[in-house]
Amino acid sequence: MLPTPDLSHLTSKDYRNVYEPAEDTFLLLDSLEEDQEYIKQLKPKICLEIGSGSGCVITFLEQIVGKNSVYLTTDINPEAAKITQRTGKQNKVKIDAINTDLVNGLLPRLENSVDIICFNPPYVVTETEDINSSLIAASWAGGINGREVTDRILPFIPKLLSPGGSFYLLLIQDNKPQEIVDIMESQYNLKYQLVKKRRAGREQQYVLKFSKI
Ligand SMILES: C[S@@+](CC[C@H](N)C(=O)[O-])C[C@H]1O[C@@H](n2cnc3c(N)ncnc32)[C@H](O)[C@@H]1O
Repeated sequence: MLPTPDLSHLTSKDYRNVYEPAEDTFLLLDSLEEDQEYIKQLKPKICLEIGSGSGCVITFLEQIVGKNSVYLTTDINPEAAKITQRTGKQNKVKIDAINTDLVNGLLPRLENSVDIICFNPPYVVTETEDINSSLIAASWAGGINGREVTDRILPFIPKLLSPGGSFYLLLIQDNKPQEIVDIMESQYNLKYQLVKKRRAGREQQYVLKFSKI
């Protein structure tokens, strides 16, 4: 079993403004671990985490992929970008943490070249105006169906993925995951697989994988 990254440098003060790893984070880590043989055989050269928060997920991914890859993260929260960079240092992983909206600024440079993309988005069903109403609200407030942030990233995934590359996306039942599967298959011709599902309190959580064939 791969160890959870060392987050001992982070305090409750850091978690006032940045998402603290929770059940959803750990379901994503478990999914990457379960898929590790598949990920290794891809020999990823570029890995990207969108919405990196503490940096726990991208740091964990490095344990699977190793040093021969570039690790990029984005987060709309500038505090999260700083903390992701610190988590990289704490765990001796070189991360390029970018403070931006979704993947703004990565295209066209990274077109067809990202081998692994991960996203644990803000997925809670809220009012639209709650999205980005504060640094910490940006980590959970997902607007209508909890889908407003997730829906905006979907068209960029087939552009960014390398041939054979995969996108790991965490969703809950309220997000209507089957609708996302239909969009990714029919509009973007990506191959779908359910990697893991788990109940956390009243939330049914899923990790979906979409691959470019
Ligand atoms: C549920 S948290 C997940 C954090 C971390 N990846 C984890 O799994 O613990 C969602 C993250 O997405 C970020 N986020 C929200 N909207 C975003 C956007 N438009 N662009 C980039 N990041 C965003 C939040 O700031 C937050 O760090």
